[in-house]
Amino acid sequence: MQTLKTPRLTLRPYESADADFVLDMYSRMEVQRFLGAVPKLMKNLDEAQALIEAWGRVDDGICGVWAVEERDTGNLAGTLLLKPIPASGPERQPSGDIEIGWHFHPASWGQGFAAEAAAAVLEHGFGQGLPRVVVVIDPANTASRRVCEKIGVVPQGSTDRYYNTILELFTAENPG
Ligand SMILES: CC(C)(COP(=O)(O)OP(=O)(O)OC[C@H]1O[C@@H](n2cnc3c(N)ncnc32)[C@H](O)[C@@H]1OP(=O)(O)O)[C@@H](O)C(=O)NCCC(=O)NCCS
Repeated sequence: MQTLKTPRLTLRPYESADADFVLDMYSRMEVQRFLGAVPKLMKNLDEAQALIEAWGRVDDGICGVWAVEERDTGNLAGTLLLKPIPASGPERQPSGDIEIGWHFHPASWGQGFAAEAAAAVLEHGFGQGLPRVVVVIDPANTASRRVCEKIGVVPQGSTDRYYNTILELFTAENPG
């Protein structure tokens, strides 16, 4: 998986040694509250390790799940995801679309990190030839909507196409 760099951040593959950070972040309701129809808090390091392994399997040279690290401290700040998004329906079949997503630790919120990291992953995806990337957010997720505005993805209204729920859809087309 390609490591990506921005002025303040390094985006690199997750490693087993990051499990403490993953557990700390994903065990918090303020992080999970808009993720999934029923928020589920991570409970232990085994779950963190299993998630890190599952994320590793997303890597296909274009898609991937990146650990976002602050360059000046080396501290982990969050996660950036570029991955196939399942269609609504009982089988979670692939929809054919690729989604970008962002999850950050509350200690790192409000510094523009999510937007900076997301812009780099969008650029990577388009550079690798993806025609289109989608974002879906819970309508109440104001911070995430702001990230969408900052990276220039285009609002398309509500959709029930993904994750068996109604979400706000944003799209970005490859400018190349
Ligand atoms: C969404 C999230 C990734 C944003 O991370 P972040 O690093 O703070 O994002 P940024 O700093 O790049 O931008 C956030 C913007 O939202 C604004 N914002 C944050 N909370 C807000 C609120 N409650 N109301 C209005 N604006 C808000 C910030 O001021 C900032 O805008 P600004 O740069 O114009 O000041 C972070 O809140 C998070 O991890 N949330 C939990 C996981 C999640 O919901 N992920 C998204 C799933 S779609």
